[in-house]
Amino acid sequence: MQLEDVKIYEYDAVIVGAGLAGLAAAKELKEAGKRVAVITKLHPLRSHSGAAQGGINAALGEDDSTELHEFDTVKGSDYLGDQDAIELMCSKAPETIRWAERMGAVFSRDDEGKIARRPFGGQSKPRACYAADRTGLTLLQTIYEQAFRAGIEVFDEWYCADVLYENGKAKGVAAYNIRTSEPAIFNAKATMFATGGYGRAFKINSNAHANTGDALSIFARRGLPLEDMEFVQFHPTGLGGSGILISEAARGEGGRLYNSEGERFMEKYAPNAMELASRDVVSRAIMEEIRQGRGVGPNKDAVYIDLTHLPKETILTKLPELRELAITFLGQDMLKEPIMIAATGHYSMGGIPVNIRTQVKKSPTELVEGLYAAGECSCVSVHGANRLGANSLLEALFFGRVAGQSMLEDIDKIDFEPASKEDAKPMIDKVNWTKSNNGSERVPALRNELQESMTMDAGVFRNEESLLKQKEKLKELYERYKNIRIDDKSNTFNTDLQEAIELGHLIDFSLFIVEGALARKESRGAHFREDYPQRDDENFLKHTYAKFSGDYELELEYGDVVLGKFEPQERKY
Ligand code: FUM
Repeated sequence: MQLEDVKIYEYDAVIVGAGLAGLAAAKELKEAGKRVAVITKLHPLRSHSGAAQGGINAALGEDDSTELHEFDTVKGSDYLGDQDAIELMCSKAPETIRWAERMGAVFSRDDEGKIARRPFGGQSKPRACYAADRTGLTLLQTIYEQAFRAGIEVFDEWYCADVLYENGKAKGVAAYNIRTSEPAIFNAKATMFATGGYGRAFKINSNAHANTGDALSIFARRGLPLEDMEFVQFHPTGLGGSGILISEAARGEGGRLYNSEGERFMEKYAPNAMELASRDVVSRAIMEEIRQGRGVGPNKDAVYIDLTHLPKETILTKLPELRELAITFLGQDMLKEPIMIAATGHYSMGGIPVNIRTQVKKSPTELVEGLYAAGECSCVSVHGANRLGANSLLEALFFGRVAGQSMLEDIDKIDFEPASKEDAKPMIDKVNWTKSNNGSERVPALRNELQESMTMDAGVFRNEESLLKQKEKLKELYERYKNIRIDDKSNTFNTDLQEAIELGHLIDFSLFIVEGALARKESRGAHFREDYPQRDDENFLKHTYAKFSGDYELELEYGDVVLGKFEPQERKY
């Protein structure tokens, strides 16, 4: 890749990522007459938003209220969620659903013909609006159609390798075409990242292969902070062995969890909410049963979810995708027998810190000009320490739209200094180094070691010893990465190259997870320290902000949680 081949594109706004958040923002901008480019390493319809199955929350029921939705979200977050952002999102949820419906999203209906809602964990009312068990896919197809109709330009199968950030200001990105390796600079007054989560740091996960947290490492390597990275959600029901998502809808519709002794074990862990306690509580219960030898399956590393008591019609009409997945990957038909599940790495509560206008923060109190983020890669902190199921589609759609509106408001006030070809040099150097480095380490092997060790030592259960061990392991992997070699030196669809770059990102941001978890000497939401099993509001009711302070060293500082009408109290389900 050569500097002289760099092509320069100019737009009002450039958006990296084409899931719900990216496309919602692009649609807003384009409909207002702005020139907008969307860069995605996939085709938009393969974005991970499409994998969300069970629903999108909105208080639509007559016995429900947006305030109750807020309370459930704050409680679910173990009081780490920012209450201004939560209030905004929950109060706008009904309007967001109507907006999606008017765009053409086809939701399932109840007997009265209203949008159907199902119960989800940690929620006091049935509030997850759904389209069978393909809610994310339905929403993604709808927003893609509408953004496409508005005339957005999509650079699909382009890899964004750098953000052009200097002196508190962003001016676009550097990217290359995966099909041809053609390098380019995308100049823009407003730059937005909506690149999804970082579940691929763990061995068993429900995430797409693409969820390698690229933006997090790209931002961190530019000296920007990441927030609350230690909070990683493990979804209770990943398909045994593979971790493929078996939606919470399975429990919402009445699925029951059993261990090898036939015991409905949630009675011990959450006697009131049972299988519908919040995700962190149910995941820990499942993994505790397995740890204590009451697992099922050939390796005793799963438990059962049983749906055989449900009417056949419920499974066939409301959970058809789940049934197919279990038949395909396990040979188990949920109509006839319980299926094997275990906790699976699912969602990243932490990410790029943003305010409620989705503007990126360069410290707990300062903003970057012209830079925005929304969806799972960001941390506006509506989820705090633990996200409620069906709040992620809501966050992505709602804050994606907010990002579009914020960029629209700001664009004409931004004093723009276009980048030049020279600004692509860090990307070009990285690509050329990756292709020419002639070491002995292989990318898949290093990635496997990373994922296995993160799962073992920084997963559902953590303690000082396991985290220190994992920190050492990461340092070792960081050094060994310098000695990689890839075989494919070509310029055409070089997935060897891309996977090597992505591995570098996984190694970078995993340090943030581990260091944040080491420093947080308490248990809160999805972060469970066996050596500090209690929540400690006196010392840790605060957000972690971490940034690189050396080659592979971090410095941590803390920022305030935005409190509000809901006082922190003990969380019980
Ligand atoms: O369980 C699910 O259907 C996943 C939904 C979510 O993570 O919000």
